[in-house]
Amino acid sequence: MLYAGFEMCIKEVTAVQEQNTYYLNQICSRNALYTQQTGRTKKCLTHTFGCQMNERDSEILFGFLTQMGYEKTDSEADADLILFNTCCIREKAESKVLSQLGELKKLKKKNPDMIIGVCGCMMQQKGMADTVRISAPHVDLIFGTHNLHHLPEYIYNLYQGKGKQIAILDKEEAVQEGLPTYREDPYRALVNITYGCNNFCTYCIVPYVRGRERSRKQADIVQEVKQMVAEGVVEITLLGQNVNSYGLDLQDGTSFAGLLRELNEIEGLRRIRYMTSHPKDLTEELVKTIAESSKVVDHFHLPVQSGSTRILELMNRRYTKEDYLHRVEIIRKYMPNACITTDIIVGFPGETEEDFLETVDLVKQVRFDSAFTFIYSKRTGTPAARMEDPVTLDEKKDRLQRLNDVLSDIGRTINDKLQDTVVEVLVEGPSKTNADMLTGRTTSNKTVIFAGDPSLVGQMVKVHITEAQTWVLKGSLAE
Ligand code: SAH
Ligand code: SF4
Ligand code: F3S
Repeated sequence: MLYAGFEMCIKEVTAVQEQNTYYLNQICSRNALYTQQTGRTKKCLTHTFGCQMNERDSEILFGFLTQMGYEKTDSEADADLILFNTCCIREKAESKVLSQLGELKKLKKKNPDMIIGVCGCMMQQKGMADTVRISAPHVDLIFGTHNLHHLPEYIYNLYQGKGKQIAILDKEEAVQEGLPTYREDPYRALVNITYGCNNFCTYCIVPYVRGRERSRKQADIVQEVKQMVAEGVVEITLLGQNVNSYGLDLQDGTSFAGLLRELNEIEGLRRIRYMTSHPKDLTEELVKTIAESSKVVDHFHLPVQSGSTRILELMNRRYTKEDYLHRVEIIRKYMPNACITTDIIVGFPGETEEDFLETVDLVKQVRFDSAFTFIYSKRTGTPAARMEDPVTLDEKKDRLQRLNDVLSDIGRTINDKLQDTVVEVLVEGPSKTNADMLTGRTTSNKTVIFAGDPSLVGQMVKVHITEAQTWVLKGSLAE
């Protein structure tokens, strides 16, 4: 039974790849002809919203587009194809997409040959493809998260004049290997280890738009990372909605701890990051493995969401405040210097002032290095959307402000201790706030800004911290 299913799955993948080769060749020769006739190469651009899953998906989309002969541009006016890879985690993310999409109407009028596509999580929601089709008639292509590997087919159909392409699959297809990729950063790479999520936290849309949890085979991941390292990658970030449950669905003994142990052995690889850890699945064995694996970073991003056990239960997080604090104890036992960061939602339906104060109390007990904090955003179709929510937005904003004040006080005190120390930094590139400076991160995920030669990018350097600020450290090269 199992074997037959497995065989079917292999056949399916091969068929998609074969079809893609055909479509890609066809598109590529059309684009080459276009260049011959006009002296110009077609250009493309993607707008990526949301999390690193989407960033990684955009690398694949770009990989396909490069194979089609498109070149990357940053200018919408110069683009022949624009893709919006969307997010719907909160309402704000959605409204940003819709307004940017609306602005393209004029551009499309000027250049009717331009292809405008929308894909990603937001399109995967019930009825959303229709909403976009009607409200943004200048969009040519709509697809979801389950079928991005069919991009060549959709573009080919558009080239063939087959009209608007709208394709949303209800269910995920088999895990796809061997997809092309276009990575901008030569030294740091994103690596999928699981897709989808089975946790159904009651506020969250992800399980509905990303499907059930599926793990990639360990051998495929290891091979991909080895190839990346051969190409110069020194830091990888393993991606999954809950990396701690990696491998369980494969039912062959594969586990996240086992994966980390094997990746840690890869010569030339310097750092292994991962996101995100669900607290309910963070075991002592895993923390021990992380502590023993020299390349796995000293950073735990462990989203707590709330410090009130009552709210955690309503959120279906499947741990209590005490469980969470116990996990933190385990981390501190094996890695006393590890940095712990988190995600917190304030204003979940029915959250009282008392519940909120439980969160503040937890924050003070754990002393997070930093946190992403959000006001609860109602997502249609999730269980929380049907819960009573009597607290006003003003009250929620006030709670968020009070929480952020506590977090920044703690963050500042922790960073102050790093003043005058020497830290090891993996140099990432020019600083976003000052292009004359370099930026990089410590193993504990602290951003460090310092002066140095751009040739240091991709290398590990020692930096002497001269000025600790709340969220960044400033320093100078120590050697
Ligand atoms: N899989 C990760 C989270 C992915 S979403 C995990 O479980 O930790 C990233 C963060 O967005 C979440 O941790 C949560 O804090 C926030 N988030 C998700 N849904 C939200 C909603 N409806 N309103 C506000 N914040 C939300
Ligand atoms: Fe959303 Fe919860 Fe899954 Fe994270 S674990 S993606 S918050 S349902
Ligand atoms: Fe990520 Fe947003 Fe989708 S946070 S998984 S891009 S809904």
